[in-house]
Order: sequence, then C-alpha cells, then structure tokens
Amino acid sequence: MSAAVGIALTGSGAATPDRVVTNDELSLWLDTSDDWIRSRTGIAARRIATAEDSLESLASQAAKQALEQAGWRPDQVDLILLATSSPEDLFGSAPAVQAALEANNAVAFDITAACSGFLFALITAAQYIRSGAYQRVLVVGADLLSRWVDWQDRRTCVLFGDGAGAVAMEAAPEGWDGLPTMVMGTDGRRRNCLTMAHRATTQVLHNQLQAGSGGFHPIAMDGQEVYKFAVQQVPLVLNQALKQAGITAEQLDWLLLHQANERILASVAQRLGIPAAKVLSNLGNYGNTSAATIPLMLHEAVEAQRIRPGHLIASSGFGAGLSWGAALLRWGRPDAP
Ligand code: COA
Repeated sequence: MSAAVGIALTGSGAATPDRVVTNDELSLWLDTSDDWIRSRTGIAARRIATAEDSLESLASQAAKQALEQAGWRPDQVDLILLATSSPEDLFGSAPAVQAALEANNAVAFDITAACSGFLFALITAAQYIRSGAYQRVLVVGADLLSRWVDWQDRRTCVLFGDGAGAVAMEAAPEGWDGLPTMVMGTDGRRRNCLTMAHRATTQVLHNQLQAGSGGFHPIAMDGQEVYKFAVQQVPLVLNQALKQAGITAEQLDWLLLHQANERILASVAQRLGIPAAKVLSNLGNYGNTSAATIPLMLHEAVEAQRIRPGHLIASSGFGAGLSWGAALLRWGRPDAP
C-alpha cells in the first residue's frame, strides 16, 4: 500500500486499576486453583476495577500520557477513537475522554469490536491520516470486563481483567510508514462463540403496550471454539500482513498479539517461526483486558526501552464477532534518534 501521507506512532500510555486479584484469591469462592489457571492460560493475576474506578478515567489517563509522550498540546488533537465494549455510556464514552483532556478541537467516538477493537481503531485512524483529513489521532483501548463477567462461572471469569492503553498517531513525511499493512475480518456466523448479549425483559407501559428494557447477559464463551479459531486464524492474517509488506518473519523485532492466553501466543509464534524472546507478553499480570491488551503491552515495552524507535512490530487482535485483524507497526517518528 503506498502512502501519500506518512504515518508515525509517537506516543503511548496505559492505566490500570490498583486492585490486584491473584488466582489464589479467586479460589476463595470459585472451584479453581492457581495451578489450573496458570497452566491453561499463563495468567497469575489481574487488575479489577472497584466501584470507585471508572473506565472513562482510566482511558483518559492513558490518553493523556500518550499525548504528552507525543509532545502535542490538547488543542492539536483532531480525533479520539475509543475502542471499548464496556462503555460507561452506551451513547459513547469517547466524549468523556475528550472532555478530560480538554481536547476541544477534536471529534471523539467509540468503536466496538471486542478484543479486536484496538487494532480496528488503529487501522481506522490510519485511514483518516492517509486521506489527509486529520493530522493527530489518539487511539485508546479500554475495557472493564470485570463488570460483565459472571463471577460464579469459572470457565470465563478467571480469564479477564481491567485496563486501558493508548497510542498517539500522527501524519509524517511521505515515506515513513508507521502502519505499512493491515488485514481485518469478521465472521458473523460464529458470533455466538463469545457474547455479551442483550437480555430481553418486558416492561408494561399500559394495558395495550409493552416495551423491552435495556440490559445485558454476562459474558458467555465457547472456550474451545475460540481457542481453535485463534490458533488457526491469527497466523493466517499475520502471514497475509507480512506478505503484503514484503517482509519476512525474521525481519520483525517483536510479535505483539492480543493477550488472551499464553498458549495462543506460543502457538502463533511457533507457526510463524518467531523465537520466544521476540514475543511480548504481560498476560501473567493482567489477564485478558480486551481492547486494552495491545496498547497496555506496547506502552510497557516502550517504557522499558524494549520497543525502540524504528522497531518493526507484527500485531494481531482477535475475539468476539468473531473478529480478527493484523497490522505491521513501525514505532517512532522519522527524526527520532
Ligand atoms: N478452574 C478449574 N477447572 C476449570 C476451570 C477453572 N477456572 N475452567 C474450566 N474448568 C474445568 C472444566 O469444567 C472442565 O472440567 P470437566 O472436564 O470436569 O467438565 C475442565 O476444566 C476442562 O475444561 P475445558 O473447557 O475443556 O478446558 P480447556 O483446556 O479448553 O481450557 C480455556 C479452557 C478457556 C482456558 C481455553 O479453552 C481457552 O483459553 N480458550 C480461549 C479463550 C479465550 O482466549 N477467549 C478470549 C478470546 S479474545
């Protein structure tokens, strides 16, 4: 894909609730164990939002860090995309992030695509920049799925955690491409594998009229189907993205996958022939934070100077929908040392 306008990824940020919940703590009320959860998923602990925490506040903290790292003023932000499936306002939580940042010249809206949401939002942001419509975009991924799991269902609740992450993306000189290829897909026929579906209840308005009420079921998942889907689909889309860019797996600096399960990370890396040392993982500390996993991991790796300017990262998000996406990312701006 040739870029009329270049793209640079110039800032990152992350925020998580303070409360750490270990596997041992879960086994205080669930028939589970640290050994079961670690061996099947790689998860040791997760952050859980208390009633005082807020998705909009965590998303805003992450976005503010990304903005500051990029060196922008709030009034220079053109667009804020918030990928979330657990907004605090079904009309959209992105405007709350805009208000918190005082990014008053921006337009802000939500994107819902579950665990693929951040990657879909990043790809969407790139289209606005390539077209010349916008110069500076904050892409935020945030989810508090602890509010939506059934805490008595050991098959699902042990997997998820809460968090937020953000990336600053800006127009760059032609020739510098921070997002050289992308692939996206969904298969709605398999949407029932992973859902947080509307709960149909009735309210009687008067004798002749009944209306439905709002509400949702907790997360329901066919774990084995989702696992099979991930280990088959993710290597395919990553290979497609590499092929489009004319890049081999050996040329990558990092593999940054949606953090769902350590066994999925290992299987995908093995199929692509990527050594374990290049696989970024913080799943052990946070579990699956849905739309937040990729920017949360990215930010940690940037802060630790593992990801450095110029590094090439293959990233893939996947999950409910079923949905999947992959993109190659080049970190940093052209003038960086
Ligand atoms: N603790 C202890 N035992 C548990 C358990 C838990 N938290 N969860 C399930 N089990 C039990 C099951 O009840 C079952 O017991 P049974 O044989 O007596 O019925 C047994 O463990 C095996 O369950 P199964 O569902 O076959 O386990 P699995 O090996 O498929 O692992 C997952 C389950 C969820 C870890 C795995 O399927 C997975 O990771 N899937 C992908 C999920 C995912 O990443 N989703 C998000 C994508 S974005």
